[in-house]
Amino acid sequence: FLVNFSVCLRVRFFSQNYLGLRRTIANRVKKTSRGPNKVSLPRAISKLGSASRSQALQLIQGGRVIVNGRVERNPHRWVNLLADTIKVDNELLTKQPFRYIILNKPRGLVTSRADERDRATVFDILEEEGKGLAPVGRLDKDTTGLLLFTNDHQLANLLISPESGVEKTYLATVDRDVDQKDLQRCADGMEIEGRGKVIRTKPAVVKLKGQRLAEITLTEGRNRQVRRMFEALGYQVVDLKRTSIGPLELGDLREGESRDLSHAEIEQLRSAVARGDLHTTRSRSNAME
Ligand code: URA
Repeated sequence: FLVNFSVCLRVRFFSQNYLGLRRTIANRVKKTSRGPNKVSLPRAISKLGSASRSQALQLIQGGRVIVNGRVERNPHRWVNLLADTIKVDNELLTKQPFRYIILNKPRGLVTSRADERDRATVFDILEEEGKGLAPVGRLDKDTTGLLLFTNDHQLANLLISPESGVEKTYLATVDRDVDQKDLQRCADGMEIEGRGKVIRTKPAVVKLKGQRLAEITLTEGRNRQVRRMFEALGYQVVDLKRTSIGPLELGDLREGESRDLSHAEIEQLRSAVARGDLHTTRSRSNAME
């Protein structure tokens, strides 16, 4: 029995090593198949403007991607952007020009392409205009204001990455008169609870605009952050509107309306991201004014 058992173990050991070796060789071969215009499949899908790279990975793993007529589940596959045909959900991907639009999001819509509870989404009002675009970050269902959409996933990822420190400004109306001491706590950074843990918010810029109206500028985007900060101070936010993202301003765009960004606005966004100074575009430090 012991002899048989040890033979079994050795066979398993060698067959595993053999499989590992085959995988390594296969990967080497794949790598040598790189060449001009060749990129990995997730990158190709993202370059063709259909999804971010992590979304592309999910599409591939979900069997929704077809390369040259065959379902491709290998995310390490290299494809030629000029020669190979790639379909996602049976739709052929072709290079789309970058588009950037902003929406003044009305209350009651969820920031998602499809909602599992069948609630109305921001894409319902964008209709055709939103095709192929993804929102840059999210606003809660009951928050209104500036929401950016684009198929430029690289810029979008830079804008939402925690390191970019992109400034987002909100107007919050609360249910009672605001105490200056509470605003100072928002400005200094404070502890908020959520999903079973306590976190400390980064310093913010806060201005009192009316007895119950505060403008708050954050350089991070934690889930329901403004509402949670005020809740922790004993207020209910009764109205919340985002008025700017970095150098982008909502301006007088009416609720429910959307528009393309101007050339100048796109350039401002790009150069702010490239300089990495989105948090100083409107120049301030953590302060209460
Ligand atoms: N903070 C919130 O509480 N909600 C949002 O939608 C955005 C920021």
